[in-house]
Amino acid sequence: MLAGAAVRLRPARSEDLDWLVAACGKPSAFGEFEPFFVGEAESLRRRFEQDGLLAEDFTRLVIEDRAGRRVGLAGVDEVDLHSRVARISATILEPAERGKGFGTDAHRALVSYLFLHRGLLRIEAFVAAGNIAARAVLRRLGFVEEGVLRSRVFAHGQRHDVVVLGLLYEDWSRRSAVSLPI
Ligand SMILES: CC(C)(COP(=O)(O)OP(=O)(O)OC[C@H]1O[C@@H](n2cnc3c(N)ncnc32)[C@H](O)[C@@H]1OP(=O)(O)O)[C@@H](O)C(=O)NCCC(=O)NCCS
Repeated sequence: MLAGAAVRLRPARSEDLDWLVAACGKPSAFGEFEPFFVGEAESLRRRFEQDGLLAEDFTRLVIEDRAGRRVGLAGVDEVDLHSRVARISATILEPAERGKGFGTDAHRALVSYLFLHRGLLRIEAFVAAGNIAARAVLRRLGFVEEGVLRSRVFAHGQRHDVVVLGLLYEDWSRRSAVSLPI
């Protein structure tokens, strides 16, 4: 369980699955913002049976608010312990729950956990270029926009650019006044 100020991130349980698949399958969940996540809903049930959604290359955690209401889904992908890098995402699935600080807090909790407890030195996020809200949230947490992967994904009948954002431990620890031996 990862605790932020406004949210907690926890492993999925079997009783979450119907909600997860339904919530992730709605077009409003990712479709207009992150077309490359569309289609993930269908694979969640199968992956849960395999590894509880806790594999090194594909981790998914349920985001709850402080009252324990499920509001979103956080992801850690492609953990590379040799280079000490991983990619993160966090989505507030229900549009009515957006704009309340949950997305920022979920990203912040993931970042702290990966730097402080997994010893990573770089965290990255891939965001569709048109996803202004996610780019703003990540930049506010210290992520730097490092480049654009042009025409990177095909979804909804067209190709989309993807922005790569990166946050280095050295920059984050300076901002957060945290220091660990690296
Ligand atoms: C992007 C997302 C995670 C942000 O989470 P959230 O809980 O809605 O965001 P927060 O309440 O923490 O922060 C809101 C901030 O988003 C930004 N924002 C929101 N809507 C915006 C918009 N239309 N244009 C520009 N910035 C916007 C603002 O910076 C705002 O900051 P403010 O409080 O100073 O106004 C959420 O909106 C979401 O899940 N979107 C759909 C899927 C997605 O993009 N997933 C992210 C994959 S990395």
